Amino acid sequence: MSRFAYVNSGFLPHRDACVHIEDRGFQFGDAVYEVWGVRDGHLLDEQGHFDRLYRSLDQLDILFERSQYSLLVTIHELLRRNRIRNGLVYLQISRGVAPRDHAFPQANIAPTVVLTAKRFNFDAAAQRAEHGIRVITQDDERWDRCDIKSVNLLPNVLAKQAAREEGAYEAWLVDGSGLVTEGSSTTAWIVSRDGELITRPLDNHILPGITRKTVIAIAKSMSIPLVERAFSPEEAHSSREAFITSASSFVMPVVQIDDKIIANGTPGSLSLSLRNEYLRAQ
Ligand code: PDD
Repeated sequence: MSRFAYVNSGFLPHRDACVHIEDRGFQFGDAVYEVWGVRDGHLLDEQGHFDRLYRSLDQLDILFERSQYSLLVTIHELLRRNRIRNGLVYLQISRGVAPRDHAFPQANIAPTVVLTAKRFNFDAAAQRAEHGIRVITQDDERWDRCDIKSVNLLPNVLAKQAAREEGAYEAWLVDGSGLVTEGSSTTAWIVSRDGELITRPLDNHILPGITRKTVIAIAKSMSIPLVERAFSPEEAHSSREAFITSASSFVMPVVQIDDKIIANGTPGSLSLSLRNEYLRAQ
């Protein structure tokens, strides 16, 4: 457990850090968040996560005047105080504290800023990647603005829990047309029989993954054919490879989807080389 957290303008012992009961993040999920991987003291895909953070705030009309630089200084101070060089940073910004009313407060209120950091076991993740993970499929029951990284994660929570109860690592969400949108907290990918890298195009039904963006750039630099289109669980079952991406899993091979083993049941070579390249490029 990390020792310090940051709330609004100060560092506090983690166990004492709290927000007001009328915080709109707590009351309504009226808040956005970001997660950065930290490796050797550096934030992975630093700029991409900041860009998405400010976009999410903008989409929800949360007036947040603090600069990226100021947040970055605070993040590094948090990492220093917790003595973390490899880990994860979590940032949440809510609209602020106001008497409970669904509509935005009349008066300008200061957004609530919460930052936490924790250590991450890169070796355990590397071992997991060597074996690959299992995913299950679940109905996508989320709203139509999944492109905003808001803390309204109840359908994601329920899907991930269903995965855990089945001994799987992740749940892939399937929309009303029978197509995979994304994982409950990751981007979903397959490699076709012809060696094409396939992931769903960006729209309001998925989060624009920052790791996704970097992996696309890496794939292009490796001249790997890429097609941004949706795929079904059935197509995924018969694919050559499958994997997920996120700030905390990087590129993680998938070896089983529901009860179907992918290819020969071991991590695909393209998945593993993208993982290596991702970690090397950072
Ligand atoms: N999850 N899709 C969803 C629904 C996500 O929650 C995430 C990230 C991703 C991958 O995005 P990125 O590559 O930018 O991490 C895709 C974070 C890690 C989380 O909720 O903890």
